[in-house]
Amino acid sequence: MSIRMRLALVVGAASVALFAIGGLLGVWFFSRGLRESLDGRLAHKAQVIASALTVDDRRGIPPTSLGSSPANLQRLDKRRGAAVLQVFGPHGVSADFGTSGERLVSGTRLVAAQHHREYLDVAIGSPSDPLRVVVSPITGMPGWTMAVGLSLASNEEAVSEVELDILIAGGAAIVVATAGAWWLARAALAPVEKMRQRVAEISEHDLTARLDIPDTSDELAALARTMDDLLARHQGTLAHQRAFIADAGHELRTPLAVLSGELEMAGRPGRSPEQLTQAVHRAKTETDRISHLAQDLLLLATVDEGRLALHVEPFVTAEMLHAAVAIRASRASEQDVRLTIEIGAGTETVVGDALRLRQAVDNLLDNALRFAPRGSIVEIRTARSGTPDEVLIEVSDEGPGFAADFVPHAFERFARPAGARSRSTGGAGLGLAVVRSVAQAHGGRAEAGNGPVHGARVRIFLPQAEDRATQEGRATNVN
Ligand SMILES: Nc1ncnc2c1ncn2[C@@H]1O[C@H](COP(=O)(O)OP(=O)(O)OP(=O)(O)O)[C@@H](O)[C@H]1O
Ligand SMILES: [Mg+2]
Repeated sequence: MSIRMRLALVVGAASVALFAIGGLLGVWFFSRGLRESLDGRLAHKAQVIASALTVDDRRGIPPTSLGSSPANLQRLDKRRGAAVLQVFGPHGVSADFGTSGERLVSGTRLVAAQHHREYLDVAIGSPSDPLRVVVSPITGMPGWTMAVGLSLASNEEAVSEVELDILIAGGAAIVVATAGAWWLARAALAPVEKMRQRVAEISEHDLTARLDIPDTSDELAALARTMDDLLARHQGTLAHQRAFIADAGHELRTPLAVLSGELEMAGRPGRSPEQLTQAVHRAKTETDRISHLAQDLLLLATVDEGRLALHVEPFVTAEMLHAAVAIRASRASEQDVRLTIEIGAGTETVVGDALRLRQAVDNLLDNALRFAPRGSIVEIRTARSGTPDEVLIEVSDEGPGFAADFVPHAFERFARPAGARSRSTGGAGLGLAVVRSVAQAHGGRAEAGNGPVHGARVRIFLPQAEDRATQEGRATNVN
């Protein structure tokens, strides 16, 4: 059910309840007012009649004598309007006017009325005529009581009229309120509907489309702005992903083309065993490159999806670093580069995902080895780093270092400095992006820069939940 309809129904139901309660209260107060005014008139009438009773009557003249002079009452009645009257003496009804002898008040009521005035509703005659009756003692005539009654018919008629008026007015007001609520809700929601249509129109290929923000400073304008921001973020992500896929495809194409070329050459007739061995070697290099690329791409895609699951637990730092160094030992010795590991005090074990961190360290070592000159040292160092409690893993080399203008972009995906895009000197430009993603997934950060003297220095900072006892640092040389 639409909001318009729901709002209209709620307003309608609320108006019905409101008018029902208001109407009932109104009718109740109105009829009480009428009754009170009738009681006032009755009291007055009773007083006038009592004072008009003859002196003889007051002295206790037998009821018959009162009954025998109805002219008195008739006169009174003519002066005061239609009324019924009964005078009760010690022996029952003593005088009666206008009731055809039907008794107005029961005996018990009469006894109560000996002391104070009593009001009651009575129905006499057939069809019965509702009466409001006041019963009061007659002053100066102990044991004598009189009952004066006035018809309730006109009161009841007035109440019925008021009820009908309230019903008609209430019904009309309910219809107007419900329709008004429906119309108001429709008018208020019109910009929302417009926005919805606009959003529905925007295709996933349109990366620049925006909503029409209403020229107001109300909640709808705020909603439109927020939706616009969301749209911009989504479009940004989409553009980013498309660029990522395009770049990834581009980076994969080259090694795959080389691989295919090598295999084709190897398959040609008349290849010597040496040529075949070389082709296999080159094919292996390209396969490794593709596999490395796929690994980085997979990790970054997982990060983008927000589902990079880390298995964080304490691990022995030296074990992880030695393993990373060991598989590069022959390459390093070929390049005459020395790989050193220095485990700082309090970092013998580190809390983190050892596999992901290994992937990051692998990337840093590959970079360092690529740029390290012959006879230089590539150093891996770990240390405790200030507060909040962090562990630093640093890889530094003695190569040319990062170009100053490239440093701010070093961690961007597919980022490589201008002039370093050839296959001989560079990879896909994903290694450092992976390093940063891994650091951030741990709640940490990564920094790239140059050492104090020369060479590149990349640092990973990992927050450590628990404080561990400081232990003696030690340095290990590999090679
Ligand atoms: N130790 C370093 N010394 C000098 N420049 C470096 C160093 N490490 C990285 N760079 C520069 O930063 C660029 C980006 O490095 P990154 O590791 O992200 O990508 P890559 O090594 O080119 O490719 P990939 O790691 O994906 O195979 C490199 O191309 C290189 O120019
Ligand atoms: Mg790299």
